[in-house]
Amino acid sequence: MSTANARWRQKLHLEPPQGWMNDPNGLCFYKGSYHVYFQYSPMGARGEPPRGWGHFTSPDLLHWTFTGMVLQPDIPEDRNGAYSGSAIERGGLLHLFYTGNVKEQGDYDYILRGRGANVIRVTTADGSNMSSKEVLLRNSDYPAFCSCHVRDPKVWEEDGVFRIILGARTVDGRGCALLYTSDDLTHWQYDRCLSLPDTGYMWECPDLFTLGDTAYLSASPQGVPAETYRFQNVYSCGYFRMDGDTPTQYTEWDCGFDFYAPQTFLAPDGRRLLIGWMGIGDIPYTNPTVPLGWQHCLTLPREVTQNTDGLLLQTPARELDALRKDALPLQNGTYGLPFDLCGKADGDFRLSLDGVQMQYADGVFTLRFTDDAIGCGRTVRYAKLPQCRLIRVIADTSSLEIYLDGGRTALSTRWYPAASQTALCAENLTGSLYPLRGMQIVY
Ligand code: FRU
Repeated sequence: MSTANARWRQKLHLEPPQGWMNDPNGLCFYKGSYHVYFQYSPMGARGEPPRGWGHFTSPDLLHWTFTGMVLQPDIPEDRNGAYSGSAIERGGLLHLFYTGNVKEQGDYDYILRGRGANVIRVTTADGSNMSSKEVLLRNSDYPAFCSCHVRDPKVWEEDGVFRIILGARTVDGRGCALLYTSDDLTHWQYDRCLSLPDTGYMWECPDLFTLGDTAYLSASPQGVPAETYRFQNVYSCGYFRMDGDTPTQYTEWDCGFDFYAPQTFLAPDGRRLLIGWMGIGDIPYTNPTVPLGWQHCLTLPREVTQNTDGLLLQTPARELDALRKDALPLQNGTYGLPFDLCGKADGDFRLSLDGVQMQYADGVFTLRFTDDAIGCGRTVRYAKLPQCRLIRVIADTSSLEIYLDGGRTALSTRWYPAASQTALCAENLTGSLYPLRGMQIVY
């Protein structure tokens, strides 16, 4: 990678070598390696076509290799993009299911007419070299109540049956998720639809999984009305607790400026890991890496566990602890990036880094940019939580991941400090700061 575009390059977060990155796709552990695919537009930092899948692999979540754009849009059924999808291992092969996006030429609204969304499968033995494509579902296979917006197949096996869940928008403008079943990964039958009133007009990237004996539906709903302390981003992203077939209790995954379209998967030891896109479409703020030729990154892998109250906790995957150097006491000063700050508080507290202030007071955590050169249009985000005795901040050279109260609440944001170090000022916080080694990321 040339040093000309090295500014803002991160040490812990996966980024495209050039061009645009969005959703994580096809997350899995297959043949001894983690595979992280992602939505990739190598030709332009603003997402210019073609859009396909880029690919990273790693044996341990710490040493990563980028293998390029491994899935291209090159058949009529995916001519406007190989959109998001997922992976499952069967018969020694990895089966990747994705959305073939088609935009017809003409005078269409692209909601009720003019758009095709096909579920397509490819297989691969090594993660990078793909078989020919098979189109498994087309718009005519979706229920009549669906608009043309149906996408993002997430596949899994449960009780000997294969299942796919797809995000959709109904003809009357409600978000929902469609479930299909199959015995052979090839022939799919429509099963049922999951929805909840007043949670947006379109659900993207659904993901249904079980923790303990509770099922959770993760989704990225568009059109959830903003409130002062919740749903502050242009598009929302959270999870529902399932009560039988009914999604209930929508909780945001992350209250920061930059988080969307997460996908979960199982680590070989049974942990449920989640990776999100540290970006959102149509945001009113910017990223200064665009003139340098690339934009966006993924979050760290996060372990998802169930809290006693049924809500979910997110914590950085424990593998990352291996990057810690010797702990320093949490004191005001200047620190090199990246670092992992673990703070404890007895009550209200404050923490500031270059251009950004964090504060917990009166039951509200506030993340506020104080310097627009560093926030690039990002202003303020809030999270309400009854208590906040723990704060963990993983600060990379151009992003912050903030975990509150053991991962009950997370806030992710891009952050563009002038140097690869930051001033730090803490009030009413004790604890440690671990300088971190970077991951190895080979492009
Ligand atoms: C979410 C999303 C998905 C779609 C993909 C296209 O960010 O809009 O619904 O498959 O991005 O890149």
